[in-house]
Amino acid sequence: MQIPQINFQTFNIKPPTLKKESSNVQSERLQYEKSWLSLSNLKANYLVNFKSLKADSETPYKYLGTAFYRDLFTMMNATKLIQDTFPEGTDILEFAASNGEEAITLHTLINDKHNIPYPIHSYDVSDKAINYANLNIHSVFCDSSDGFLINPESQNAMYKDLARCFFELMEEIPEPDSDINDKDFMNYRRKEKDFSVKYYKVKDEYLPYFKIQKGDIRNLPEIVPEKQVGAIFFRNAFYHLTNNHIFEHIFDKPVLDKIWYTNKDEVIEDVVSKVYDKLLPGGFFVIGNDEKEHVYQADKFTPREEYYFDDVTDEYIRLKSPLEKALLKDGRFKPVVTSKCYTYSLGDFSVHTVWQKVEKEKDNAD
Ligand SMILES: C[S@@+](CC[C@H](N)C(=O)[O-])C[C@H]1O[C@@H](n2cnc3c(N)ncnc32)[C@H](O)[C@@H]1O
Repeated sequence: MQIPQINFQTFNIKPPTLKKESSNVQSERLQYEKSWLSLSNLKANYLVNFKSLKADSETPYKYLGTAFYRDLFTMMNATKLIQDTFPEGTDILEFAASNGEEAITLHTLINDKHNIPYPIHSYDVSDKAINYANLNIHSVFCDSSDGFLINPESQNAMYKDLARCFFELMEEIPEPDSDINDKDFMNYRRKEKDFSVKYYKVKDEYLPYFKIQKGDIRNLPEIVPEKQVGAIFFRNAFYHLTNNHIFEHIFDKPVLDKIWYTNKDEVIEDVVSKVYDKLLPGGFFVIGNDEKEHVYQADKFTPREEYYFDDVTDEYIRLKSPLEKALLKDGRFKPVVTSKCYTYSLGDFSVHTVWQKVEKEKDNAD
């Protein structure tokens, strides 16, 4: 049996070509296509507590937190664009893989059970994250982005499809002895009246698809596969490199120094140019929708006219995102998917989360 194909509804892009469906599934699809952009659907993807894995990395203020189906809207649209642009398949590089939940999500969206036209090569720089991935224990909280997997009553037809694909790959396991989540956090959550959590593992037969290797996106030119790829994911991790800890109320001098003395533009330019070189023409760069990816603290190298002092948050905040500026530089990338960023301090706003490589040389030659 194949993993059932997800039905997609897209934003700004044409409807997908769906694989064979029963007439029953078709009619279900019509119903949820109408409601896909409704507020309630969208909110369900962005519940404040997104973290199935609540854990810190080896470095203070840097987190491994992740969840299945995090920013589902971006994941589905990215998948659709990759399939349309590379219908014969292409390799996908995933950095900031954390404990593997993003790779599992992507796999359920883009590959079939015994047919893998889109091999996913996953990397993370943290040994702790790789250890979590090797444990093969995943938690799903009732109120995280993947909570629909354990709340059957909240499932519309689309979520049912997603859950069907997920449970083809995953099986439920009893509560493990090992702490995969922060102890204090779990003690706190368990006191809540309606809190629930379930645990899952990847079924043994699929484990070979989910090996996380140690790798840093800054070493992209040396990363396997050596060839160019159709998509690179690096979601919600730029702040590990830029030391951008916006709205975190940090009073720790060494960390404050790092924030101020890290040349964020330089760090970002280095990654973006390597990503550009590694992508095939028309390839996609997928980034996160976390506020730390899009709202930036000023640093020593930021011209004074490019930031302001925000007296609500007591922070020097840049007027424009240096990441967006780097992606747009010389027209080398264009944004193709717009998602939502949710912040307590600045409210919610739109952000571009999927960027497509534009072939500069070819355009000039034409
Ligand atoms: C907050 S988690 C994001 C996980 C997942 N991408 C998501 O969006 O849910 C950030 C992850 O990025 C990893 N990371 C940080 N810097 C990295 C780098 N230079 N190359 C690869 N991974 C990195 C961290 O170890 C951590 O696991």
